[in-house]
Amino acid sequence: MPIETIFDTMEYGTAPEDRSVALQWIANHGGLIGPYVNGAFAPARDDLTIRNPATGEKLAGMTLCTKDEVTEAVQSARAAQPDWQKAGGAARARVLYALARLMQKHARLLAVMESLDNGKPIRESRDIDIPLAIRHFYHHAGHAQLMPSALSDRVALGVCGQIIPWNFPLLMLAWKIAPALAMGNTVVLKPAEYTPMTAMIFADICSQAGVPPGVVNIVTGDGSTGAALVDATVDKIAFTGSTSVGRQIQEATAGSGKSLTLELGGKSPYIVFDDADIDSAVEGLVDAIWFNQGQVCCAGSRLLIHEAIADDFHNRLKARMDKLRIGDPLDKSIDVGAIVDPIQLQQIQALVQANTAGQTYHAQTPVPEGCFYPPTLITGLHPADTLMQEEIFGPVLVSTTFRTPAEAVEIANNSKYGLAATLWTENINLALEIAPKLVAGVVWVNATNLFDAAAGFGGTRESGFGREGGWEGLQAYSKPRQPLPEPAQVTPFTGQGAAADDIDRTAKLFIGGKQARPDGGYSQAIFGPKGQLLGHAPIANRKDIRNAVQAQLACGWGKTTGHLRAQILYYLAENLAAQTNRFAERLDAMTGSTTGAEEVRAAVDILFTYAAWADKFEGRAKSVPMRAVALAMREPVGTIAALCSDQHPLLGLVTPMAAALCTGNSITLCASAPFPLAATDFSHILEASDVPAGVVNILTGPQADLAPHLGAHMGLDTVWCLSGAELTQEVQARASSNIKRVWQGAAQDDHDSWLDAGTEIKTIWIPYGE
Ligand code: NAI
Ligand code: MG
Repeated sequence: MPIETIFDTMEYGTAPEDRSVALQWIANHGGLIGPYVNGAFAPARDDLTIRNPATGEKLAGMTLCTKDEVTEAVQSARAAQPDWQKAGGAARARVLYALARLMQKHARLLAVMESLDNGKPIRESRDIDIPLAIRHFYHHAGHAQLMPSALSDRVALGVCGQIIPWNFPLLMLAWKIAPALAMGNTVVLKPAEYTPMTAMIFADICSQAGVPPGVVNIVTGDGSTGAALVDATVDKIAFTGSTSVGRQIQEATAGSGKSLTLELGGKSPYIVFDDADIDSAVEGLVDAIWFNQGQVCCAGSRLLIHEAIADDFHNRLKARMDKLRIGDPLDKSIDVGAIVDPIQLQQIQALVQANTAGQTYHAQTPVPEGCFYPPTLITGLHPADTLMQEEIFGPVLVSTTFRTPAEAVEIANNSKYGLAATLWTENINLALEIAPKLVAGVVWVNATNLFDAAAGFGGTRESGFGREGGWEGLQAYSKPRQPLPEPAQVTPFTGQGAAADDIDRTAKLFIGGKQARPDGGYSQAIFGPKGQLLGHAPIANRKDIRNAVQAQLACGWGKTTGHLRAQILYYLAENLAAQTNRFAERLDAMTGSTTGAEEVRAAVDILFTYAAWADKFEGRAKSVPMRAVALAMREPVGTIAALCSDQHPLLGLVTPMAAALCTGNSITLCASAPFPLAATDFSHILEASDVPAGVVNILTGPQADLAPHLGAHMGLDTVWCLSGAELTQEVQARASSNIKRVWQGAAQDDHDSWLDAGTEIKTIWIPYGE
């Protein structure tokens, strides 16, 4: 071809990467893969077929691990765990470092295998997936080294079951295994059924790196193998995948005592303001939605474009789409590769075909036969249209317009998800005003899809909970050294006297800043240890919970400054201290103890403590290896409900309240049912202390009746189950309604854990330089 023609057409030739190294690896393993348990590959079977989606050809046969095989892997992890933990952080650091070095050495094999198995362009597996996975092991070698000094109050969870998806097979493996190993856990990992190959190479690397047998186990199989792992005797399940399976796992682990982290789907907004650098924003969008064929949980799949520039932007975007090269993933000049499996392709086709709204544009670029889908743009959608709400998980971008920044935020947050968000503007003031308002775990400013091992990644709402990466990611693989004792169960005292005949003499609930009669109109008599009638406490029901949560959602406490929150907590402390005698007498009368005054003093002290923390529980600026700052901002989790413990009727009420308020949350407190009168008295302290309406609500009555409604409530972000395992199970069994966080509390003086439970980390990425 003459040179002028090349300049005219800007056509590339093909530049195929040699695949023989990966095929040779498969041949060396007899064309079959299977579980890696206790440091060795077990004999493999040809139960399932692993394919190259770009050609449909069989790559290998795979063992579908049975329940017994999963049990065996878990036993091997269990047996290896104590020694791995005892080996110490420095010894574990050496092993993680060796893994990173060996992965680097085998980087080409890993990249080629990843593209063969998943269909992603080799350019991406070579330059993004594999280097980021390696970086994760280097970074966590450091965390292992520093654990004894920097995290001396935390210990490993034990055995972690880890289930990963097919979109970033090796990278997700790294995100799961590196922090788990660093903190002294052992693991059983299940790769996705479409893409197990690089996990098998990783298993090989573990043997070479001197990972002790049993520390890393890999079980191959499908959802049934995953479900068996969820049911096995593991201490934690870490899952990345679809929201529907995440929901099933949350239900399956309810009441099991297993820790859980979920990284689920998303429908992340990509907001372009009218002052944005449009060509950069178009280029960013290529990365946001056509990277990995759009099969990315944090894909910028919802374009929100300022009305004034919408037509221009869409035209430039279409022109860019037409230039995307779609084809053989092993070709180094390809932009868009194959969809992972024909089933996924059908799902994308079905979603797009079912849509009748807006205008659909397919890129005018040749699309090969087989498992490929053209880059697609659907413009003119309304925020409520199905494709604006549902995850497509393919190379399909949907678009709508906005007029003002406030409207952009409103549309962006109009989603059940909250994983990531991108915004483009040349105005730094606008960017920094909008970023905190977006409901998302990650926000990219004038960039997209930036990731690093030092920066946390994870979502809110139905995108799941827990962070991966950085210091915050270590929380998910460690626990406080001091185990939390199971709260003692208290039987209420009985005595003479019926329920209140005159409801007006009964203490009231406290909802929305006001004393409120219970919706059901019922109350219960409260007796002292000698059977004397002390008073009546209202019995709250589902509607009282509804009213309380509504008040929480309207209270605006999350927008207040730490300084103001401190002032109000100090004021509460002052007012409670002034009533020490009254509260002490009430406590002693209810419980029959003589430690009431001590408990009031402890409650005052905890108010002072969290008042002190209110303007000091800070985020971080992450040290990421690029010209960018990644700000780890602490944001309130939102609306909390707490089932308070019976052990200290006042302290058990004030501690969760103070911790929640300190970190910017509102809270509905379900007081101790046997000892509710300190709580009803406390509402007068709240009234006297300038606590805005709805920030704190107090309900009384049997917690067992309230727990299921708290678990199921769609407006609550989290429930703190501080009164024992039985009610925790009640809440957890229903928490999957909105993928709610459920937390069981921490020791009274473990302030860090309480503060962490009240906050969520949002990572805001801001690249710099011209
Ligand atoms: P999936 O959620 O079914 O699969 C993810 C992993 O979970 C795989 O390893 C699978 O074997 C395992 N699994 C499946 N059922 C299980 C169960 N009952 N218990 C335990 N483990 C189980 O995702 P799938 O079917 O591959 O893709 C379906 C849709 O999910 C996609 O179209 C996409 O919308 C979404 N998805 C989201 C991902 C994300 O990163 N957020 C990743 C993969 C899929
Ligand atoms: Mg495959």
